[in-house]
Amino acid sequence: MESIYLDNAATTRVRANVIAKMQEALTSFYGNPSSTHSYGRSAKTGLESARKTIAKYMNAHPSEIIFTSGGTEADNMILRCAVRDLGVATIITSKIEHHAVTHTVEELVEKQNVRAHYVNLDSFGSPDLKHLEALLEKKEGKTLVSLMHINNEIGNVLDIKAVSELCQKYDALFHSDTVQSIGHFAWDTQETKVDFMAAAAHKFHGPKGVGFAYIKRNTGLKPLISGGSQERGCRAGTESHHNIVGLEEAFISAYDNLEEEKAYVMGLKKYFVDTIVQEIPEVQFNGHSADLEKSTYTLVNLRLPVDSQKSLMLLFHLDIKGIACSKGSACQSGSGKGSHVLSEILTDEEMQKPSLRFSFSKYNTKAELDHTIKVLKEFVLQ
Ligand SMILES: Cc1ncc(COP(=O)(O)O)c(C=O)c1O
Repeated sequence: MESIYLDNAATTRVRANVIAKMQEALTSFYGNPSSTHSYGRSAKTGLESARKTIAKYMNAHPSEIIFTSGGTEADNMILRCAVRDLGVATIITSKIEHHAVTHTVEELVEKQNVRAHYVNLDSFGSPDLKHLEALLEKKEGKTLVSLMHINNEIGNVLDIKAVSELCQKYDALFHSDTVQSIGHFAWDTQETKVDFMAAAAHKFHGPKGVGFAYIKRNTGLKPLISGGSQERGCRAGTESHHNIVGLEEAFISAYDNLEEEKAYVMGLKKYFVDTIVQEIPEVQFNGHSADLEKSTYTLVNLRLPVDSQKSLMLLFHLDIKGIACSKGSACQSGSGKGSHVLSEILTDEEMQKPSLRFSFSKYNTKAELDHTIKVLKEFVLQ
C-alpha cells in the first residue's frame, strides 16, 4: 500500500465535482462580484446561489450565512463582535474548545475585561450540564455560552439541544463551534436554536480557506474587518468566489449523500475499533471516541501501550510506512506541545502513553485500516 490518509479531521480530500465547479468559476466567472457589469453580476449570482443553498439545507435565512476564510475567522468574528457590539461581559466555555475559541476568549479576558467561566468536564471530556446551569443561574451581565458540537480531537458529541434549552432558559446567547459537524450531521436551525455557528469547507471535501458564520437574524453583529460593503456589510473584502462555489458544491454533495456516506464511514470506524481491540487488547480510547452513540462517526482517538521513549518514534514510524494520522490535533502535531484537550482529561501517567487520532472519510477502505492496525501492532510488539 502506497499511502493511507487517516487525518480527515485535519482536512479532507476535495471531491472531483468540487474541483470541476471551482475550475469553471475560475475560468468563466472571474468578475468581481461587486462590479455592476455582466462579469460581476454573474459572479454575484454564484455567491447568492451558494448562500441560498446553504440556508435552505440548514432551514435558515440566506442573510444568516456570512462567508469567511474558514472556521477560525468565523469563531473570531462571533466572539469578538459579540463582546464589542452586543455588550457580552461573561463567556461560559470549556477548556477543550479549539484554539480558535480558547485563545480568542483568553485575549478577550485580558484586553476587554470579559469574565470567562469554564464548565467542569468529566473524565471523558463531557461538560457537566448541571455545572453549566449553576454558572448560568448566577451569571453577571450579558452572557454568551461557547461550546463546540463535536470535539475535533476526541470526537465527543455535545448534547446541543440541552445546552440550547439552558441558554434560552437563562437568556444567554449560544455559540457553537460546528466546524467538525457541518457537512457530517444534518442541521435544522429552527429545531436546534443556536445564535452563532462556524463552518469550514475543507472539513467536508471542499476547498481550504473558505467557510461561513451562521449569525441568527437581528442579533446586531457588526463586521470584524472593515472596508467595502461585501457580504451585506458584514464582512469586507472581495469575496473568494471560486472557493464559495466550491463550498456550495461540497455542501450539496455532503448533504445529498449524507445517510449513505455516514453509514459507510461509521462502518469503517466500528471496524477499526473492533479490530484494534482484538489485535492490541491493551489499547485505550480517549474521551468517548470508541462509543458510537456519544462520539462522531468520523474519528477515533486512542492510547497505545508503549513507553514514552518509544512513543517519540511513533508518528515518524507511521509516516515512513505511508500512514497519515494525527497526534492530538493537526495544529499541535508539529509544535511539540502536548494536546490541551488530552491534558485536561487524562492523568499524568496516561499522558505518558502516545495518543493518536485516526479520522476517516468515504475515500478510506477496510483494507487500509487492516494495514494500519498491522503496522501499529508491529510497532507495539517490537
Ligand atoms: C473544531 C474546529 N474549530 C475551528 C477550526 C478552525 O477551522 P479553519 O481551519 O477553517 O480555520 C478547526 C480546524 O481544525 C476545528 O476542528
